Amino acid sequence: MAELVQTENSVEQKEYPPLENPPYHVGIIMDGNGRWAKQNGKSRFEGHKAGTENLRRTLKSSVEFGVKMLTIYAFSTENWKRPPFEIMGLMKILENVIDTELEELNKNGVQLRHIGQLERLKPIIRNKVLYAIDKTKHNDRLILNVAFNYGGRDEIVHAVKRVIADNIPPDEITADLLSHYMYTADCPDPDLIIRTSGEFRTSNFLIWQAAYAEYYITPTYWPDFDKAEYYKALQTFSRRDRRYGGRNE
Ligand code: IPE
Ligand code: IPE
Ligand code: MG
Repeated sequence: MAELVQTENSVEQKEYPPLENPPYHVGIIMDGNGRWAKQNGKSRFEGHKAGTENLRRTLKSSVEFGVKMLTIYAFSTENWKRPPFEIMGLMKILENVIDTELEELNKNGVQLRHIGQLERLKPIIRNKVLYAIDKTKHNDRLILNVAFNYGGRDEIVHAVKRVIADNIPPDEITADLLSHYMYTADCPDPDLIIRTSGEFRTSNFLIWQAAYAEYYITPTYWPDFDKAEYYKALQTFSRRDRRYGGRNE
């Protein structure tokens, strides 16, 4: 697929040939909004808004590049440590996104899901999230898991509690069974995890599910992570040799 990209001095033709082996499930740690804002003389809130704008582009590119499932890290269980003013801004953004984007997402066949704990969010936001999930539940062009108030350790603790509450006998506990108790119960494990802003850590994102995920880390801040770079990440993935502990020869 070709498209024209306006650069500073010229209009450049960008080609995105279909990928031979696109990942089915991509996770994105959308990091660097704050540093992007600082670099551009803007407030952190504007940085988060720019990040949200970029998400809209990423969703479009995901469909075009053949990604079927996208899990985005939007707010971690540790992000409550931030100043209340920033947290309020992030909550407001989530609320606004649902209000303004839901129709468009639905029209484009996006199925919205949530992973993490909804309980700690204000009822008004919680209800909007539940409404959006219900409204889009029959869509199948792209599944979008929004990790909001999500933490991998919290997810595992939550799973273990439910296993105990269900009186599962110890010999029936397997990795497969535990996977079904995670928030991602009916999702295949992520194939590729992208982290922007150059940090080499998981920050508690999909720590159970990512046992054999491929990682792609770029120094680019999330608001600047564009279509060309997304394509490069997917292309890099398609060249990786995944062995899962075995041998491929
Ligand atoms: C990522 O951007 C968004 C959230 C964590 C909500 P940051 O706000 O972490 O941006 P940096 O890492 O400070 O640049
Ligand atoms: C990870 O980014 C969480 C999200 C992108 C939502 P953080 O900025 O919270 O991670 P740390 O603190 O740098 O590990
Ligand atoms: Mg950060």
